[in-house]
Amino acid sequence: MFLFCILSLTSVALAKVSVSDPSDIISPALWTADNAIVPNYNVPFVSVQPEALPAAYEFYDNSTSISHQSFSTTLNDTSVILAADHAELNLSFVDIQKSGYASNLLWSSFYGFNAAVNIANASTAHFDNLNITVHNGAANVYVYGTDSVVHVNNSWLYSSGPVSHGVYASGNGTAYVSNVQHFSGGKRSSSFSGDSPAGYIHVSDSVAHTIGIGSATFYALGGIYANNVVALSENGPTIFMDGTQEAYLTNCETTAGLLGGVAIFSSQIRTSGAILSLKSSKITTLGATMPGLWFGNTIIDVSLYDTQLVTASGILVVANYSQITQDFDYYASYLDNANLLPALVSVDVKESTLTGDLVAYNSSLISWNLSSHSSWTGAAYSGYGQAYLDVHLDLTSNWTLTNTTSLQNFTDADTTLSNIDSQGFDIYYNASASLNGYLGGKTIALVGGGKAIPA
Ligand SMILES: *[C@@H]1O[C@H](CO)[C@@H](O)[C@H](O)[C@H]1NC(C)=O
Ligand SMILES: *[C@@H]1O[C@H](CO)[C@@H](O)[C@H](O)[C@H]1NC(C)=O
Ligand SMILES: *[C@@H]1O[C@H](CO)[C@@H](O)[C@H](O)[C@H]1NC(C)=O
Ligand SMILES: *[C@@H]1O[C@H](CO)[C@@H](O)[C@H](O)[C@H]1NC(C)=O
Ligand SMILES: *[C@@H]1O[C@H](CO)[C@@H](O)[C@H](O)[C@H]1NC(C)=O
Ligand SMILES: *[C@@H]1O[C@H](CO)[C@@H](O)[C@H](O)[C@H]1NC(C)=O
Ligand SMILES: *[C@@H]1O[C@H](CO)[C@@H](O)[C@H](O)[C@H]1NC(C)=O
Ligand SMILES: *[C@@H]1O[C@H](CO)[C@@H](O)[C@H](O)[C@H]1NC(C)=O
Ligand SMILES: *[C@@H]1O[C@H](CO)[C@@H](O)[C@H](O)[C@H]1NC(C)=O
Ligand SMILES: *[C@@H]1O[C@H](CO)[C@@H](O)[C@H](O)[C@H]1NC(C)=O
Ligand SMILES: *[C@@H]1O[C@H](CO)[C@@H](O)[C@H](O)[C@H]1NC(C)=O
Ligand SMILES: *[C@@H]1O[C@H](CO)[C@@H](O)[C@H](O)[C@H]1NC(C)=O
Repeated sequence: MFLFCILSLTSVALAKVSVSDPSDIISPALWTADNAIVPNYNVPFVSVQPEALPAAYEFYDNSTSISHQSFSTTLNDTSVILAADHAELNLSFVDIQKSGYASNLLWSSFYGFNAAVNIANASTAHFDNLNITVHNGAANVYVYGTDSVVHVNNSWLYSSGPVSHGVYASGNGTAYVSNVQHFSGGKRSSSFSGDSPAGYIHVSDSVAHTIGIGSATFYALGGIYANNVVALSENGPTIFMDGTQEAYLTNCETTAGLLGGVAIFSSQIRTSGAILSLKSSKITTLGATMPGLWFGNTIIDVSLYDTQLVTASGILVVANYSQITQDFDYYASYLDNANLLPALVSVDVKESTLTGDLVAYNSSLISWNLSSHSSWTGAAYSGYGQAYLDVHLDLTSNWTLTNTTSLQNFTDADTTLSNIDSQGFDIYYNASASLNGYLGGKTIALVGGGKAIPA
């Protein structure tokens, strides 16, 4: 169970609403040793899918429908249920219990070894009213292969132990998830995850609660398409994303406790073209220094539409010369990855009111574009070294400064800058930045006593 706040517009009172999740029924306190297991990825990698995917119950190349039964196994490296080789498997009102360890986490991550349920090799599945409980580290539902599709409705997924994702897609597999509750207590156990080369997760009307380090609500490797998800990641962000992936969140309300509201990066060479879109959503971050959105070693376009970022730190966006490592608990430096480059982040803000700062590190860029009745209260500054900070305002948007700010490109459709309330602070703009010609290299008085000053 976790709490989140709803702002009542009529009374301006904060109401706390509790959301139930599977940890209300099985307390993670019973599984603390399991949840303390540190995943070991220092194991031999197999680059092709192994021929045998061990499972207690196997369904090959046929269509099967089962309801009102229970299945379980306690064996290591063994799924409870496997559907493979063009199988179709429907399960309804089925209980699945899985314990037993994974000896090779790469096989688990890339091929679904030890997952409670594995849908592989051009197989399809329709699940409703599943109750899956796993211990010792196992994905609840895994889907593998380009033509594999799993539907999971009205289901209850509980996990303890490491790398126990709720719904996990890889090998280009696709999952459609609706009305699901997932809880994980272990490390690196995100609720809805893709893995290399890609997995595609469509999730709606669901609840997710994770408590382990490295456990996000969404791990985007491929695509995440979420609608109406309420989630808490106590020791992770709402989204991890590594490389050129995409995540679209609509009507989601999430809380994140470590690294950032999102933590988006390239873990090897810097990639370009990742997409983050937040629509009618709210992300709250709890940590004293955690930004709403964190980016490292990536080039990304972000879109925020009718969205709130509520941060205890007062920092909306960080763009850094950094990445996240497999430890998932710190911002890494050049010592961890000699290929690091600055983050180049363009954020389009529409129909949103945001309060907080933009912080760029070591030649990183944040281009902040406010349009369609957006309003920003904050400042922009360098966290370390040179910071490239651009601000763009349309006629319907405005900016209230909370500190002196130095900008590169600075465009305002209101060329008198009257939609900026300086509160006595100044804006220094790069007089030779290519879009700043309209300012004529002049010092311009701002509302509230500050000035825009060429630099
Ligand atoms: C899945 O497909 C691969 C590649 O064709 C094959 O090697 C493997 O045996 C298949 N596995 C199962 C469980 O069907
Ligand atoms: C499908 O095949 C599995 C074995 O692969 C078997 O156990 C199951 O009963 C079959 N289902 C049907 C409907 O024949
Ligand atoms: C499985 O469910 C799907 C979707 O409801 C349905 O189209 C298909 O016929 C079902 N298959 C079996 C074997 O019941
Ligand atoms: C299962 O894995 C655990 C943890 O690695 C190990 O202690 C145990 O001996 C394994 N069991 C078997 C039957 O191999
Ligand atoms: C799911 O199964 C577990 C383990 O048997 C049980 O404790 C739990 O109450 C079940 N969940 C629901 C929602 O019934
Ligand atoms: C599962 O949920 C989806 C999305 O709400 C819905 O379209 C689909 O009909 C549901 N399937 C079943 C078998 O309930
Ligand atoms: C995933 O898609 C890629 C690109 O289309 C393809 O090369 C690869 O074989 C696919 N993998 C699987 C397991 O289907
Ligand atoms: C920025 O990156 C450096 C490493 O380059 C790291 O030490 C620092 O903690 C990071 N800070 C943030 C807020 O990302
Ligand atoms: C800053 O970037 C330079 C490369 O331009 C790199 O050598 C250095 O390690 C970075 N410093 C920090 C603190 O990130
Ligand atoms: C700033 O924009 C917001 C959103 O459009 C609007 O509600 C507010 O009145 C504007 N403030 C000023 C000072 O123009
Ligand atoms: C404003 O910026 C200055 C210089 O960077 C800093 O020392 C000060 O703490 C900032 N003030 C606020 C209110 O953020
Ligand atoms: C300003 O924007 C233009 C056009 O996007 C870009 O080419 C340039 O690098 C930006 N920065 C500066 C300092 O001119």
